[in-house]
Amino acid sequence: PRIWAVLPAAGVGRRMGGPLPKQYLPLAGRPVIARTLDRLLALPAVHGAVVALSPEDNHWDALGYRHRKPVHRVPGGAERSDSVQSVLHWLAEQGGTRDYALVHDAVRPCVGMAELERLIDRARDERGGLLAFPVRDTLKRDDGDGHVARTVDREGLWHALTPQLFPVMALREALAKAGEAGLTITDDASAMEAVGGRPRLIPGEATNIKITRPADLALAEAILVAQGG
Ligand code: C5P
Repeated sequence: PRIWAVLPAAGVGRRMGGPLPKQYLPLAGRPVIARTLDRLLALPAVHGAVVALSPEDNHWDALGYRHRKPVHRVPGGAERSDSVQSVLHWLAEQGGTRDYALVHDAVRPCVGMAELERLIDRARDERGGLLAFPVRDTLKRDDGDGHVARTVDREGLWHALTPQLFPVMALREALAKAGEAGLTITDDASAMEAVGGRPRLIPGEATNIKITRPADLALAEAILVAQGG
């Protein structure tokens, strides 16, 4: 079975405010999505990548991304989970029913090689897994009126990151069932959980940030420098 990097990149990124979708913004001179793909495809265990893009996206072709490994484009959907489903459907049609999907946000270009290797080493089976790190801040629950109702116990709480690694067919079925049940699915692990799965939590890095707001680009640049390029 192969491992495919699956990149949902069909979002419009309204919080960034500019005309260029955030995955195409230059990060230290190279578009965010190109940096993300470079890192995932550098892993020997990763066979290739499938990118889900908005059908109206004309930036991808302009990018001219080339790699010695296969990189395919499929149309994304209305929600992130629809974009992931679109890739899984395509992979199944291509004969990848025994393959694995390493689903990673296109806008997380600072993912580290060590955390990627850890995830693939430990979560490449039916159960699957995700990168995550323990919550370090104190958490407050509000009373709905701007005051603290109580402090939430952070023991056992984790920040969920991507990549997340699951078998193509298991994730496809889980996303379909979660969709039918009308659940809001913000990551792939939550679809697996909704059908009774218990994905592994694999230690990841807080530096594996998702570029969401303009200030995140400067932060990502500093992280790349700290990582040594
Ligand atoms: O908007 P958010 O930051 O949660 O997006 C996370 C990732 O999901 C981004 O890479 C974005 O392009 C992708 N996405 C998608 N299809 C959508 C919405 C978001 O592929 N309909």
